[in-house]
Amino acid sequence: MWVITDPDAVRDVLLGCETFLPDNALTAYSPLSGRSLRILAEVGFTLPPTLASNSSPSHRPIRRTVARFFSPAKVAAVEPLVRQLVEDRLPAVHSALVHRGQADLVELIAADVPARALLHLTGIHDVHLPHLKRWSRDSLELFWGTPCAQSQEELAHSAAEYYAWLRARVRRARASPTDDLLGSLIELGLDDDRVCAAGYFLLVAGQETTSMLISTIFLRLIARPATWRRAANDPAFVARAVETALQQESSVPTWRRTIRESTELAGKSIPAGADLLLTLTGNGGSPDIAFGAGVHRCLGAGLARLQARVVVHATAAALPRLCLAERSPRRIDLLSFSAPERVLAGYAPLHGG
Ligand code: HEM
Repeated sequence: MWVITDPDAVRDVLLGCETFLPDNALTAYSPLSGRSLRILAEVGFTLPPTLASNSSPSHRPIRRTVARFFSPAKVAAVEPLVRQLVEDRLPAVHSALVHRGQADLVELIAADVPARALLHLTGIHDVHLPHLKRWSRDSLELFWGTPCAQSQEELAHSAAEYYAWLRARVRRARASPTDDLLGSLIELGLDDDRVCAAGYFLLVAGQETTSMLISTIFLRLIARPATWRRAANDPAFVARAVETALQQESSVPTWRRTIRESTELAGKSIPAGADLLLTLTGNGGSPDIAFGAGVHRCLGAGLARLQARVVVHATAAALPRLCLAERSPRRIDLLSFSAPERVLAGYAPLHGG
């Protein structure tokens, strides 16, 4: 893989959609074994290009249909719900702090809130949330991780379970039309394989990435109790912290493109068909590039930013006196996804700075 880190070159690639194609965006980083492929084939698993990996003309109408669910007006309207979702989680956090002396803010807040907000916006209310979270994490690891043979098969079973649920859900939506996201894709004229492929990507990417970003911001801010206390009182400071995290340590640190014809890039001649790995964060580029650019730019950038701001500020305002109980937690560390697995916090001593 050709690693492109220079921010200007990264932007050129993202914007040069005639030469640089997104076709490899969802390709499994570790090739799937015959056994894993058979596990997936048993449920008819297929991911034809719809959104992130689609360089064909069908991308535009699918994108337009999905974008309607995440318009600026819909995102702004979801703010009170996001705030309420944080409120709903606080008793569990208080209880963990009191009874165990520490609370995992990933498990209790960051993992949950973006998923509930996404299901609200897409109108998909009939998925069991713990299942969706497990399916999402497992699919990210299957496609972007380097699991050993046995764990790849276990992840393939989980991905197959997720896909089977989705297929049955799409079949039901076709039988009795709905105006939710899946119903809208059916109405657009997509076959079941394509509706499932779009849904598969969106229900994972639309929440797990935001959960991870919020986890990272929790860790960064709580690491210094005085910074966390400032976050409690100053929403503008939180908004800046969100942009800084996107710029320095985003939850989607890289993204892939492939190349149609051999091209000069950052002084190197890159052959046709090569895979490029673009650095999207931590390289001095703009925070906005964390969401990609051009015709495939993330459709959830506004939603992710709003949720990160509201969740972090509401949590800090309710629990201003926190400090880290573990400074360097284990990380989710995949080709294109990165975050602390947990953020354990306890009450800061009253004299703590
Ligand atoms: C912090 C959170 C998020 C980050 C860092 C992130 C990042 C990205 C990146 C890097 C891409 C590839 C862009 C490109 O190829 O130019 C992308 C695509 C996409 N994202 Fe996000 N994303 C986040 C949250 C969301 C959310 C909340 C949604 C829900 C709507 C979403 C939906 C999508 C979709 C649909 C695409 C494919 C767009 C297309 O190909 O037309 N993302 N995202």
